[in-house]
Amino acid sequence: MSKRTATLPLVLPPREAGSPAARWLYATLRAQILAGRLPAGARLPATRDLARQQGLSRGTVVAAFEQLRAEGYVAGTIGSGTYVNRVLPDELLHVRRAGRVAPAASPAPARHVARLARRLRALPGYERRPTRAFRANVPALDLFPISLWAQIASRRLRRATAQQLLGCDALGYRPLREAVAHYLITSRGAQCVPEQVAIVSGVQEALDLVARLTIDPGDVVCVEHPGYVSATSVFTAYGARVRAVAVDEEGMRVPDGRARGARLAYVTPGHQHPLGMAMSLRRRFALIDWARRAGALILEDDYDSEFRYAARPLPALQGLDTHGVAALTGSFSKVLFPSLRLGYLVVPPDLVDRVAAAKSLANLHTPLLDQAVLCDFITEGHFGRHVRRMREVYAARLGVLLDGTRRYLTGLLDVSGIEAGLQTVGWLAAARDAATVARAAAARRVEVIPLGRPALGTVPREALLLGFAAVDEEEIMRGVRELARVLGRPAPLP
Ligand SMILES: Cc1ncc(COP(=O)(O)O)c(C=O)c1O
Repeated sequence: MSKRTATLPLVLPPREAGSPAARWLYATLRAQILAGRLPAGARLPATRDLARQQGLSRGTVVAAFEQLRAEGYVAGTIGSGTYVNRVLPDELLHVRRAGRVAPAASPAPARHVARLARRLRALPGYERRPTRAFRANVPALDLFPISLWAQIASRRLRRATAQQLLGCDALGYRPLREAVAHYLITSRGAQCVPEQVAIVSGVQEALDLVARLTIDPGDVVCVEHPGYVSATSVFTAYGARVRAVAVDEEGMRVPDGRARGARLAYVTPGHQHPLGMAMSLRRRFALIDWARRAGALILEDDYDSEFRYAARPLPALQGLDTHGVAALTGSFSKVLFPSLRLGYLVVPPDLVDRVAAAKSLANLHTPLLDQAVLCDFITEGHFGRHVRRMREVYAARLGVLLDGTRRYLTGLLDVSGIEAGLQTVGWLAAARDAATVARAAAARRVEVIPLGRPALGTVPREALLLGFAAVDEEEIMRGVRELARVLGRPAPLP
């Protein structure tokens, strides 16, 4: 019976016919060490394993290792592990050592890159800096019940069936699709059946799927201005001609003649990104009517809508649509935690099979066990409890931000109260430049995102995006005081 190999196989170039095995193995390993492919400190496979992998006798491998050891390339003893030496023999100083990664062939080959690939631009990732006032787009991660999540996850893993280890439909784990449909119908006023719900890796994947299904290069797509840049990046990548449609107090205006032939309109009616107002009911109906006449699809991004502070929640735009022109997407990134990468996409019935095909071509389906854990979290009531608790926490934090800025910054930075979400906007006094303020704030460890002059209202003013969810009330007040200093009106010490 063959023993199991304890180390992963080492891939070596083939041996030329006629070259003695020990000599070949010695020369090959030495070359790998010199090229940096076996870096300093790397452990070589056990002689028995390497002999089996390469079809050699163990004595041959031992002889090659002995020679490498004698010349100072490796250290350690047979039986306890053999490692590449950190300091290589003197004569190696004359040999150029390559980095760990094989250097690119030089000059670079003339590689063909598709037009689509030439348009791709990576999105900024989450920055791993300490969270401070006024980090936007991030929930209070320190308040997430991670132990509870771990218990549910470990129970799920212990009980995973063979079927669950195999996979699920392209559109996702059926019980989760049912739970999400139920939640959207009851809490967001959406109209859907579970068959219309796809579980995706966050809103970002929903944007990609919808773009693939609706955009041919040169097609017009309408987005809000100002709006969510990560959505525009996707549409641009697929070759869309993006039309920026201004937002006013009622949300995105109904697209005009410049949007003729539009295939898609992307909107954030629940909580306009980044300005924060909700789209009025009148505007929602007008947009649906426009889409019906234009033959366009509306993609409603319902991000952050769980955290609604006003008493009267507006139903999702998708729930008002009786013509099958609206799709709805949302994310668990803000309610739970961003690295979960789970969200949903609800599409009109005629698009369901196409979404399933596009999804399966990209990744077959979203990882099933993560979906199953989320499903338990929702159906056992933890999701609802967490949302209620966080809503209270965020409402209190928003209150502190509004009080603090009213007290110390009136006339310099007017902060909008908002109905929903994790961030709001501060309007700077005329003649203030948002980018300059943001830089000065950063020097005081306060993060604000400059929005420039979002055209809303009659006097264009520069504005800053202020997140209030990620940090506690003390840190929010520190941020307010620092901003007061930056804006030239130092607040009294607490
Ligand atoms: C407008 C908008 N939509 C969606 C998201 C969430 O996207 P995802 O689910 O890909 O994390 C964000 C996050 O910042 C956002 O600002």
